[in-house]
Amino acid sequence: MKISSSLRLFSFVCLLSHVQVWGSKFPPSSIKDASTPGNIVPNKFIVEVEDASSIPGKRDTGLVSREAHESLYDSLRKRDVGFKVDKEFNSKGLFVGAAVTLTDAKDRAKVLDISGVKAVRPVVFIPAPKPVSVKVVKDPSDPAVPPDSESTHVLTGVDKLHAQGITGSGVKIGIIDTGIDYTHPVLGGAIGPGHKIIGGFDFVGDDYDGSNTPVPDSDPLDQCNGHGTHVAGIIGADPDNAFNISGVAFGASLTSYRVFGCTGGVTDDVLIEALLRGVSEGQDILTMSLGGSSGWTETSSAVVSSRIADSGKVVTIAAGNDGAVGAFFSSSPGNAISAISVASLDNTVIPLQNATVVGVTHDHITYFSTFPFPVNATLPIFATSTDPTVVDDACDPLPDDTPDLSGFLVIIRRGTCTFVQKMTNVGAKGGKVALIYDNGTGFTAIDVGNFTATLIQQADGVFLVNEFAKGTNVSISFPQEGSSFQFPDAAGGLISSFSSIGPTNDMFFKPAIAAPGGNILSTLPVPLGSFGVESGTSMATPFIAGVSALLFGVKGNGASVGTTARTLFETTAQRVSSSHTDGDPLQSVAMQGAGLVNAFDAIHSDIVVSPGEFLLNDTANFKSSQTFSVKNTGTTAKSFKVSHVPAGTLQAFQPGTAFFQDAPVPFLSQTATVTFSETSFTVQSGQTQKLTAHFTPPAGVNSSLLPIYSGFIDISNANETFHVSYLGVAASLKDVPVVDTSDFFFGVNLPALGDSDGNFVLDPRNFTFVGDDFPTLVMRLDFGTPLLLVDLVDQDIQLKTSLNKRDREPLITFPSTAKSGTFAQVKTLGPLLEFDFVPRNSDVNDGTGFNPFAIENVFANGTTVPNGSYRILLRALKVTGDRTKEEDFESWLSPIVGVQAPA
Ligand SMILES: *[C@@H]1O[C@H](CO)[C@@H](O)[C@H](O)[C@H]1NC(C)=O
Ligand SMILES: *[C@@H]1O[C@H](CO)[C@@H](O)[C@H](O)[C@H]1NC(C)=O
Ligand SMILES: *[C@@H]1O[C@H](CO)[C@@H](O)[C@H](O)[C@H]1NC(C)=O
Ligand SMILES: *[C@@H]1O[C@H](CO)[C@@H](O)[C@H](O)[C@H]1NC(C)=O
Ligand SMILES: *[C@@H]1O[C@H](CO)[C@@H](O)[C@H](O)[C@H]1NC(C)=O
Ligand SMILES: *[C@@H]1O[C@H](CO)[C@@H](O)[C@H](O)[C@H]1NC(C)=O
Ligand SMILES: *[C@@H]1O[C@H](CO)[C@@H](O)[C@H](O)[C@H]1NC(C)=O
Ligand SMILES: *[C@@H]1O[C@H](CO)[C@@H](O)[C@H](O)[C@H]1NC(C)=O
Repeated sequence: MKISSSLRLFSFVCLLSHVQVWGSKFPPSSIKDASTPGNIVPNKFIVEVEDASSIPGKRDTGLVSREAHESLYDSLRKRDVGFKVDKEFNSKGLFVGAAVTLTDAKDRAKVLDISGVKAVRPVVFIPAPKPVSVKVVKDPSDPAVPPDSESTHVLTGVDKLHAQGITGSGVKIGIIDTGIDYTHPVLGGAIGPGHKIIGGFDFVGDDYDGSNTPVPDSDPLDQCNGHGTHVAGIIGADPDNAFNISGVAFGASLTSYRVFGCTGGVTDDVLIEALLRGVSEGQDILTMSLGGSSGWTETSSAVVSSRIADSGKVVTIAAGNDGAVGAFFSSSPGNAISAISVASLDNTVIPLQNATVVGVTHDHITYFSTFPFPVNATLPIFATSTDPTVVDDACDPLPDDTPDLSGFLVIIRRGTCTFVQKMTNVGAKGGKVALIYDNGTGFTAIDVGNFTATLIQQADGVFLVNEFAKGTNVSISFPQEGSSFQFPDAAGGLISSFSSIGPTNDMFFKPAIAAPGGNILSTLPVPLGSFGVESGTSMATPFIAGVSALLFGVKGNGASVGTTARTLFETTAQRVSSSHTDGDPLQSVAMQGAGLVNAFDAIHSDIVVSPGEFLLNDTANFKSSQTFSVKNTGTTAKSFKVSHVPAGTLQAFQPGTAFFQDAPVPFLSQTATVTFSETSFTVQSGQTQKLTAHFTPPAGVNSSLLPIYSGFIDISNANETFHVSYLGVAASLKDVPVVDTSDFFFGVNLPALGDSDGNFVLDPRNFTFVGDDFPTLVMRLDFGTPLLLVDLVDQDIQLKTSLNKRDREPLITFPSTAKSGTFAQVKTLGPLLEFDFVPRNSDVNDGTGFNPFAIENVFANGTTVPNGSYRILLRALKVTGDRTKEEDFESWLSPIVGVQAPA
């Protein structure tokens, strides 16, 4: 198997005409060989072993012992496995094992064979947390102070807790991120005992990018990236600052675990190291605003996060910013079963600036900037076009007769080319400052590189252009004080469109809860501007970490508080609608989780509802009957009514295809129906009422659309409301196609073999496996698979595969080869590749769109394949399928591949 050193571009010259005919989506030149799918790092594995204490005959001293590790390494050496130890983990009860690099990835099978080895999971690369938008403030000492930006605290009741003096003091939060600029005055100005930031560790160093070797040191200072400093401010910013912002739990003690360098990502062995250190240093809460799309609950860092949460700590993790690519695309480690995965809600206001219009009567013009433009002069306007409907304004170099623009404020219409291109053309004529008016796309932050320019609303732009065309003398000034404006965001108060959509492939309830994450003002490193507005589930996640600190602060730091935190947050959350239009359904639970956190009720309510989630699963594993309890910890009896409040049913698939819907995912009108053992009850002080709910999935839905239904069991009276959230899918997941067989992406039906000359190989073909002369298996996963196998088989194998029929209707006829026979009955010559828990592909050509596997003439155990003629058998286990049953796999057989390696 070739690895990254053999990366090679396909040109697919011969296919181009065919591609045009069929209108494929991805250019064949985008195929680069890889040895592993998605974000799996070649050759690196995390080996989990039994605790030394569980090895028979060993005395459990409770002390950390390295015997388990030594015994693992001995066994590896005895089996001739070449390996290098990258990290050791020794946290009894949580994780004992090692991150290793195998000289030959094919030795994984030998490692799994060693007794005492519990699991061998691939190391996963997690990309850098990418805020959806960033607006860096230019001048930290700017006198223009936005008014109180604590709208997020008002939305969630945090302001009322602060008013009661509840600030999280005495609670310890570990922030696993890019480090923190602790020199920031609002974050205490220093690090160490007695300060807000009580300590930290840098696991990686500035230059680490996820592909090179980490260089740890003891100082987690970050003045080059900034993400972790924004996160830290959301939790801990001290209130006495010029911006009138405060952290959710500004009394808490923070520790910074730095796992990202200045740029790039991280591998999850580093995350595990940080998580375990956080536990050993006594953090009550660990928060991670990071993750990569996965759909599975099984990556190492997810498994460790979940165990830490089970032990009574709160672990908050971002749900991800992949909402655009549809459902079943939740991120890992956020999928950790017992962790709290956090969705993002758009803030209801955005702190922006007003400009003043001179020379004509017009209201202030709001421009998309947190701080005033650094412009003192009152500038006359110059419009690059007098036509307020021009589609490609300033996309070409400006005409020769354009005046010197250095003394003007330039007005440009949005559209066609990038903002930077428009500004470059304006800059070529001396222009320095510009306002770009929206063309109807939306009033948002934009990327203008380092130009002084930003967006204004369409109506303001049209007004200015019309006045300019009339020859009116219009000028604009940018007041440096008193001009900040809490712009009401029309989309505010709804789940952010970027927030990743669950559930997990095995129907776990992700995300769990929502918090404000869109347009959040917080701290940035001092050299990067000190304050800024960012958006992302990265901003929502520390909010929940902060609320958890307030909870621990009130109820004590005990494990029983930690293990019930998620349920408290979920059962007291505020339900969020799917739109601001009356009559539209509530947002799907697969997007909002249980709703927007209500910190005040979660902490002060004397009614405790449990559980917070009903996991109804799919139709084949349907859990129709669910019980819940309502406990009255107060002093007076309370009466409640029980009712069903459905949320929107997501139509996850595009009709007639096996492809997921991109956002916005449409709703189906049908919802589940529910009956209750009681519809009203009274619970006395100190008593618990138990109830049962019986669910029926939505009737009359087309299961091939993969309808995700959800909603709430409402328990309320005139004063209080609680809910249990439910989630299910009205289809059998085992019937959902896994492997893409369409020609939509490459113009030929997938899976397919490609060669280095840019051809798909449809007929028998010999390869020498010298240099570029080897085949590449190109495949896409429409849905995740728990097990992906590539085996070599005899060229004459008699096997009825499920996918080779080219005229198969893609989705409507789910393949149901109800033949008997077990997995073991298929006669293979040996495995070539094997991967567990592979995520589904997206429809975006960004590395997540498909999987190209380079095929080598070597079996998975390292033995060379003898020269001869073979076929390649691809098998993907269907979700919820049984790995011992051949009929639970989709299968595809390649054309004959001859191995003709020179002697
Ligand atoms: C900012 O401009 C908006 C729109 O014209 C106006 O409603 C608001 O009152 C202005 N606020 C300030 C502080 O100038
Ligand atoms: C604007 O005026 C202030 C105070 O007079 C001065 O400090 C600043 O440099 C000026 N800014 C620009 C961009 O001219
Ligand atoms: C606005 O500009 C965007 C970006 O170029 C473009 O995609 C969109 O079609 C334009 N919309 C209108 C109404 O011109
Ligand atoms: C502005 O951006 C351009 C293009 O990215 C870059 O070449 C230039 O150095 C930047 N200038 C400053 C002052 O940062
Ligand atoms: C749904 O059922 C499948 C098959 O039994 C199981 O693997 C999975 O864990 C279940 N999901 C949940 C959330 O219980
Ligand atoms: C609701 O609150 C009011 C005022 O606190 C109280 O008088 C009333 O009894 C409460 N109603 C219920 C149903 O608990
Ligand atoms: C592959 O090589 C073998 C051995 O030289 C030969 O018999 C066979 O015909 C070749 N197959 C193709 C498709 O070229
Ligand atoms: C390696 O795997 C191949 C194919 O399964 C098998 O024939 C061979 O015996 C194995 N070699 C070793 C050393 O286990």
